[in-house]
Amino acid sequence: MSTSQKYVLTNITIAPMSEGERYGGLIENGAIAIEGDKIAWVGIADQLPEGISAWDQRDLKGALVTPGLIDCHTHLVYGGNRANEFEMRLEGASYEEVARAGGGILSTMNATRAASVEELVQSALPRLDALLAEGVTTLEIKSGYGLNLEAERNMLRAARQLAELRHVNIKTTFLGAHATPPEFNGDADAYIQHVANDMLPALASEGLVDAVDGFCEGIAFSPDQMSIVFDAAKSLGLPIKLHAEQLSNLGGAKLAAEYGALSADHLEYLDEDGVKAMAKADTVAVVLPGAFYTLRETQMPPIDLFRKHNVRMAVATDSNPGSSPMTSLLLAMNMAATLFRLTPEEALRGVTLNAAKALGLDSQKGSITAGKQADLAVWRVQHPAELTYRIGFNPIEMSIHGGNIRD
Ligand code: NIG
Ligand code: FE
Repeated sequence: MSTSQKYVLTNITIAPMSEGERYGGLIENGAIAIEGDKIAWVGIADQLPEGISAWDQRDLKGALVTPGLIDCHTHLVYGGNRANEFEMRLEGASYEEVARAGGGILSTMNATRAASVEELVQSALPRLDALLAEGVTTLEIKSGYGLNLEAERNMLRAARQLAELRHVNIKTTFLGAHATPPEFNGDADAYIQHVANDMLPALASEGLVDAVDGFCEGIAFSPDQMSIVFDAAKSLGLPIKLHAEQLSNLGGAKLAAEYGALSADHLEYLDEDGVKAMAKADTVAVVLPGAFYTLRETQMPPIDLFRKHNVRMAVATDSNPGSSPMTSLLLAMNMAATLFRLTPEEALRGVTLNAAKALGLDSQKGSITAGKQADLAVWRVQHPAELTYRIGFNPIEMSIHGGNIRD
């Protein structure tokens, strides 16, 4: 669709998901005007401004329109899979035991290092398509299974190529600090120096890095080690995120918040101190119910404390071969409600405006607001709560990415 194209979606219910009211204030008998790649106007159809009412109209016959969904935490690009470890865990091994025995992230590292960029792209495409088929218009993809310069570069290039192959926006996140690769013989400090001083600056200079993440955990890196990576990110002007408090409370989210992180993610073991630090920095809490479910975790993230301190919550798939082999954001919304007790409104906000904020994109995306990108999902449902309520059902009718209809 050319940038001069103008059209209006009519006969719709709109869940704008803008700040404030529930669902951003549901609009019945609504209309959305699109000009080029932007939303030109949104409101009640009867009130369409004169100039716009002459544009081409597309009657959507009572469909619900939400912002295009945003999956703000994925590890979609990787080699191989870990079905064998799934079997081991079913026989009683824990996630940490599998990791310590050389499985886990390191087994995916081996498969990822063995793959070419093209192979990484081809293996990720069906997973990407599964997300897009549910109305996802923006997602984040992390590196972190290469763990050396060349393989991390390949992962990030694959992520960039995926964005060329489909109508979707992809934000890349450098996750070099995911695990210490075997060539460092357990010297995590030396590896962190390499991540901060060599890998990150090189990949950033190639334009491959939109944000920097790490895994702050007993089986990964300490807050002190993470702060070395964050300092490097800061000096390059890159935003940060952190896998924090997933399996234990090390104070990672607090550290990330002190660095002004966009988000801290997982957070099952977070305490109130950490929640307050996140509130102060306006760091988004990204909850990942797919990992909670897969690992049969029993410790809930502190949802009530997030509400009490007005920390915004986002919901993501954490799509990865180990702790969350999941490619359904609708299912993540359902799990966030059933497992974490998020309301359907919080779940939808968690994959729209708050997910946009977790990626630093909330001024351009995440709500149906005049001036923002025309990224929309059109659903054959009557009320937005239905998106969260159903299990394994996809009521998408069409999605629109940057004004382009993607039926
Ligand atoms: O987000 N927590 C660390 N990283 C991933 C899992 C990595 C893996 O097991 O491959 C996560 O859960
Ligand atoms: Fe993750």
